[in-house]
Amino acid sequence: MENDILILGQTLAFRDDPFATDIDAAVRIQSRGGLVLRDGKIAATGTGQDLRAAYPDARVIDYGDALISAGFIDAHVHYPQTGIIASWGKQLIDWLNTYTFPEETRFADPAVAAEVARTYFDLALANGTTSMCSFCTIHPGSVDAFFAEAARRNMRVAGGKTCMDRNAPAGLRDTAQSAHDDSQTLIGRWHGKGRLSYAITPRFAPTSSPEQLEAMGALWQQNSDCLMQTHLSEQLPEISWVHELFPEARDYLDVYEKFGLLGQGALFGHAIHLTDREKARLVESNAALIHCPTSNTFIGSGLFDMAGLKAAGHRIGLATDTGGGSSFSMLHTMAAAYEIGQLRGTALHPAQLWWLATVGSARAMRVEGRIGNLAVGMEADLVVLDLASTPAIAQRHARAETFWEALFPTIMLGDDRAISSVWINGAPVPDSGARNA
Ligand code: GUN
Ligand code: ZN
Repeated sequence: MENDILILGQTLAFRDDPFATDIDAAVRIQSRGGLVLRDGKIAATGTGQDLRAAYPDARVIDYGDALISAGFIDAHVHYPQTGIIASWGKQLIDWLNTYTFPEETRFADPAVAAEVARTYFDLALANGTTSMCSFCTIHPGSVDAFFAEAARRNMRVAGGKTCMDRNAPAGLRDTAQSAHDDSQTLIGRWHGKGRLSYAITPRFAPTSSPEQLEAMGALWQQNSDCLMQTHLSEQLPEISWVHELFPEARDYLDVYEKFGLLGQGALFGHAIHLTDREKARLVESNAALIHCPTSNTFIGSGLFDMAGLKAAGHRIGLATDTGGGSSFSMLHTMAAAYEIGQLRGTALHPAQLWWLATVGSARAMRVEGRIGNLAVGMEADLVVLDLASTPAIAQRHARAETFWEALFPTIMLGDDRAISSVWINGAPVPDSGARNA
């Protein structure tokens, strides 16, 4: 059809989970592949040659040797912490009190929220991240700023008002009732509007009273098609604190479960120091664990057990966790996941790392039917990568004998310079390299 776009390059798609299947069976790579885009979606996939013949009227954009992939999906991020990324010298609780809470207090001003949201989305897109699940602050205006900016860019995102009514400074506390009512209002305003969806967001057990957690559980029950995101077992002192605050709970996860905050559609950030009981309940309940590797090293939290948890059947996504994480780049995030795997004795395959940053995060956010892969009917959120983007990467890339050897240097050494173009909903992002498309 007249408005069809045919983009050509090297395509990478997943047929299956490369943790569960042989890599060659799980991945489909076409060195001269292509995608036909129509009405924001992928209308056809195949070899460039076949697609050119089948769609003679399509406008052709040829990316040559560049890699075309589904855009990256950051399954746990705090957009309000953009301005305090790379803050020195603190571990979790001190880091929150010293850097994070003062910064989040500024979001009482909607103009601050609007400006940071703009900056955050610019950085995410420059790094090839086309979707994310973000925490906002306690201020409803911070949620409005997040969704308004995503809507302006046509992006599929999830986010929610961070709820906390204790152990936080004045100016950064709501109440059980106001957290419930404000969240419900925001759900009505944003959830299901275009590509936006709402995530009910109690920050973590230490900053919510039992009454607030109960209100959050009731809210989720009333809005069961929303996601629910929070933090779980990130650092040992945090876990001890949870035991002091909730002495009747069997473990950290039990706190959430008691208040109706465990189930399908839950995303638990970090999930490093889990007991066997917690692991079993997490698998049974079909909740998602979100691995935040640059954050876990930067804040000093610990080594997530990717291989063990995947083998046990957990649903796992990948995330930057900025500003606790030290990068906006999902390439850096994959590199950190690789290094943590090595420290735990497992070398994660590049296909597994890429799957986590696309399909894995999409599954965690329950949008795997829409985004995270290249397949007919999927929404056309794409990233196009130059696999020789710097002299250091180019000289290693030149020696590659396999596709994975050609890709891995970009995973380990790449950054926003590797991102040639980004497409959202079938259209090129004007400020990415795609402006030339
Ligand atoms: N736990 C509770 N809040 C936060 C946060 O903002 N960042 C991280 N990394 N962990 C948290
Ligand atoms: Zn977080």
